[in-house]
Amino acid sequence: MRGARGVDERLITWPGGRCQPARPGTPWLEAAAAAGVSIPTGCLGGSCGACEIEVNGEIVRACVAVVPHGKAAGLMVAVAVDPHW
Ligand code: FES
Repeated sequence: MRGARGVDERLITWPGGRCQPARPGTPWLEAAAAAGVSIPTGCLGGSCGACEIEVNGEIVRACVAVVPHGKAAGLMVAVAVDPHW
């Protein structure tokens, strides 16, 4: 989808129902902070799994992953409540 400034954006639905657009390529932790969502973190290097989130049913590590490009405008995010570390 095109945002207000004519740039590609994806509409992210966060836990609790808050919706916030983000540009593809934006780090997930940055997108979460912009939406006021706190994602637990640990190593910040992709190895511990503390920051795992579920994006449209796929688990990603928010500290090393970015908002993906794609044809569908919307992304649904769930945050793990019990990180396994
Ligand atoms: S904070 Fe450890 S994998 Fe992301």
